[in-house]
Amino acid sequence: MTKRLDGRVALITGGGRGQGAAEARLLAREGAAVLIADVLVAEGEALAADLSAQGLEARFVALDVTDPADWETAVGTCRAWKGRLDILVNNAGIINRSTIAGTDLGAWERVLRVNLTGAFLGIRAAAGLMVETGGGSIVNISSNSAFSGHSDPAYTASKWGLRGLTRSAAMEFADANIRVNAICPGLVVTELNKDSPHLQPMIEMTPMRRSGTPEEIAELVLFLASDASSFMTGEDFVIDGGFTAGAAYRRVARETGIF
Ligand SMILES: NC(=O)c1ccc[n+]([C@@H]2O[C@H](COP(=O)([O-])OP(=O)(O)OC[C@H]3O[C@@H](n4cnc5c(N)ncnc54)[C@H](O)[C@@H]3O)[C@@H](O)[C@H]2O)c1
Repeated sequence: MTKRLDGRVALITGGGRGQGAAEARLLAREGAAVLIADVLVAEGEALAADLSAQGLEARFVALDVTDPADWETAVGTCRAWKGRLDILVNNAGIINRSTIAGTDLGAWERVLRVNLTGAFLGIRAAAGLMVETGGGSIVNISSNSAFSGHSDPAYTASKWGLRGLTRSAAMEFADANIRVNAICPGLVVTELNKDSPHLQPMIEMTPMRRSGTPEEIAELVLFLASDASSFMTGEDFVIDGGFTAGAAYRRVARETGIF
């Protein structure tokens, strides 16, 4: 049976755990050869071994997204392994959870460097091989906090920036048949946020009254990575159970008896 990503090669940053790991599993099941790239070596290697044991194609490469030399190694691994690169998922991300007053310059720069500069370095490193092999799809994992003022200013700025980078890259690479889109998830409980006090209030505010799952985010990555989205580029796609659509007004409507 033909799978949606047969013959494709995908590189997923932060693929060792959380949403990135779910994306690696789904894309591999859909026929892609997946290069899992992460600073978490043990987790990434274990996932690649697990997928390989299932008869799927997966490898691991150590990658710090802030390091241009690591990017050259990762893209070089795709070239040596399969001679091509079709899908790049810029999923790696960190959060520092502090206010402007509480954020020192180093913490600010670290978040921007991983979440935004990391994606820039990835697009720059991957585009050459993608162009050579006929184009592809780049998916940047932003956040629904890229539509409002989240309480972590560095994280919020980085995710707004990723939406802008997505549009610029989509314009630059359209002629090369590379599509570039952003996904903006709402709350998904992972290692990134599992201890945060805001989980329950966020769930209560979400119109669908739950958090999302890594597997639900992975389905949108698959859609944007595959030919099913062949006329879509330069766009951002919110996936958050209705939070951005109007959670604040819905709360007002409920409190005033309209709903
Ligand atoms: N969890 C949520 O509620 C949520 C909501 C919106 C957006 N996001 C975004 O989704 C993405 C995935 O997050 P998650 O929820 O799976 O969290 P996670 O912490 O489980 O996964 C993040 C991954 O990125 C990797 N990473 C961190 N720094 C790196 C670096 N310098 N180089 C390479 N890899 C690095 C981590 O090792 C980890 O594997 C992130 O970009 C995050 O900002 C998460």
